[in-house]
Amino acid sequence: MASVRLNRYLSMCGVASRRKAEELIRSGRVKVNDEVVRDLSVKVDPEIDRVEVDGREIRPPKRRYIALNKPAGYLTQLGKAPGGRKTLEDLLKDIPERVFPAGRLDYDTEGLLILTNDGELAHRILHPRYGLPKTYLALVRGRVSPQTVRRMLRGVELEDGFAKPDSLRVVRYEGKNTLLEVVFHEGRKHIVKRFLARFGHPVVKLRRTAVGPVKLGKLPPGKWRNLTAGELRALFSAVGLKYKP
Ligand code: URA
Repeated sequence: MASVRLNRYLSMCGVASRRKAEELIRSGRVKVNDEVVRDLSVKVDPEIDRVEVDGREIRPPKRRYIALNKPAGYLTQLGKAPGGRKTLEDLLKDIPERVFPAGRLDYDTEGLLILTNDGELAHRILHPRYGLPKTYLALVRGRVSPQTVRRMLRGVELEDGFAKPDSLRVVRYEGKNTLLEVVFHEGRKHIVKRFLARFGHPVVKLRRTAVGPVKLGKLPPGKWRNLTAGELRALFSAVGLKYKP
C-alpha cells in the first residue's frame, strides 16, 4: 500500500469515518511513530509507520478480493439507498473489511462484480487504459443477423463517443430474441444497452459473466466468494501488476 492521508488510513482500517477520523486527529488522540499528530495533511505508509489511536496500534486492513453475483433489483452501492431499494450492503453483511465494488452494474443487470479494498487493483480493473475485458451475455429483442453482427463489430458513434466491442457473437436464437455474448473493456454508463439499442436490438436481460480472467461460473445470485490465489495471479497480471500473497 502506498502512502495515504492519515484520516483516510484510519477510515480504511475501520477505526472511524474520514470525518470522524479528522476529529480524532485534531483532538490529539492519534500518534504516528510515537508522536502526536494534529496535522490533517500528514501521510503515512502503513508498511513503515506505526499508527496508534488512544494508545492502541492500528493494523493495515487485510486485503480482500471478492466475487459477487449481483442479482437484478440491487443498486451497485454500499450503504442504504433512499426509497428503501436494496443495495450491495444487504448481500455483504458478513464481510468485516470495507470493500467497494470495482465497477458498476445497472439496477436490473445481474452478474459478476469484483469487490475489494485494494484501490490500485480496482482502478486498473476499471480504467480502459489497462484493457481488461468484461464479458456480458445479453438477451436482445429481435433476431440479430450476421450482417448486423459484422456492423456491430465495426463499432458505432454514441452520444458520448465511439464504442466498439472487443468481440461479439450470437450464442443462440431464442424465438424472436437473440442471446449475444459481448465483450467490452470500457465501463461507460449503460454501454452495452446503449450500444445494442443503437442497432435496433434493445436489451431484455443482461448478465456479466466474466471480468478479465475471473469467471462467474456457478456462483448463485446473491452469493459471494473469495477469489482464489490462481484467479488473483491471473487478474493482477492481466492489469500489469504482480500478485504478492
Ligand atoms: N452495460 C450496461 O448497459 N449495463 C451494465 O450494467 C453494464 C454494462
